[in-house]
Amino acid sequence: QKHLLGIEHLRPDEITAILDLADQYVDLNRRDVKHADALSGLTQINMFFENSTRTQASFELAGKRLGADVMNMAMQASSIKKGETLIDTAMTLNAMHPDLLVVRHPHSGAVDLLSQKVNCAVLNAGDGRHEHPTQALLDALTIRRAKGRLHRLNIAICGDVAHSRVARSNLILLGKMENRIRLVGPPTLVPSQFAELGAEIYEDMNEGLKDVDVVMMLRLQKERMDGGFIPSEREYYHRYGLDAEKLANAKPDAIVMHPGPMNRGVEIDGEIADDINRSVIQEQVEMGVAVRMAAMDLLARNLRSDRAAKQASEV
Ligand code: CP
Repeated sequence: QKHLLGIEHLRPDEITAILDLADQYVDLNRRDVKHADALSGLTQINMFFENSTRTQASFELAGKRLGADVMNMAMQASSIKKGETLIDTAMTLNAMHPDLLVVRHPHSGAVDLLSQKVNCAVLNAGDGRHEHPTQALLDALTIRRAKGRLHRLNIAICGDVAHSRVARSNLILLGKMENRIRLVGPPTLVPSQFAELGAEIYEDMNEGLKDVDVVMMLRLQKERMDGGFIPSEREYYHRYGLDAEKLANAKPDAIVMHPGPMNRGVEIDGEIADDINRSVIQEQVEMGVAVRMAAMDLLARNLRSDRAAKQASEV
């Protein structure tokens, strides 16, 4: 692969290869062997047109730990504010010869479009409600480490599926790895067409969580609701917020996940989020660095071999 634009473009063996390499980076990070040279001599530019804590910080750390020169573009202070388009911005940066561009953008498809205009590897850090591939990969690694496998699991993805790129990427990845996915939430947030992606849909949280191995909670993404129906937080928490009573429907060893940022008391009870016997939310953050190291390492290998082949053909 030249870019990492979406899980939809990855085969199961490619997903497994990324997770296997990420496992090695988890071990190195835990052993405080935090410097490698896989990206040595390469320039990584992070362009975040939307807010981020986890994704931006972990891409920056991942690049630095692998020896890249990393630049974070302050998009709020860029010439985008003077009317420059995304594509002109990308082509301007492309002229500075970056090797890896990490892009988050509010519009679905924007990162794909940008990748067609530049000469470097592009990683999608989240585009609109379309895809967030590294989030799904880090979620998959977290599940594989907690459950010892990434197939034949019953996984409930709960809440605002409609506006969630995390849900979409997870649905695709976990489906490719042959898991059974349930989507749980009100019809306004879990449209019936998601059944076409191979998921079972539940409106009732207690039924949806029955005997699942994994409970993945999602935030209400009000920033993408476009003035549509926004449920009252109190009512939503009552029906769909994960608390001990609802979680009791899942298997006794079910894990609780959340991609963050989390709204405690809206989609999840704070005590469940902090329960180290059930919640793997902090592990997800840890896996995020390792997965992004693995993804950039593998793309850099492809980039280097493409460039070597091009140079050889020119002589
Ligand atoms: N999960 C996630 O994408 O978090 P950030 O928005 O903080 O990057």
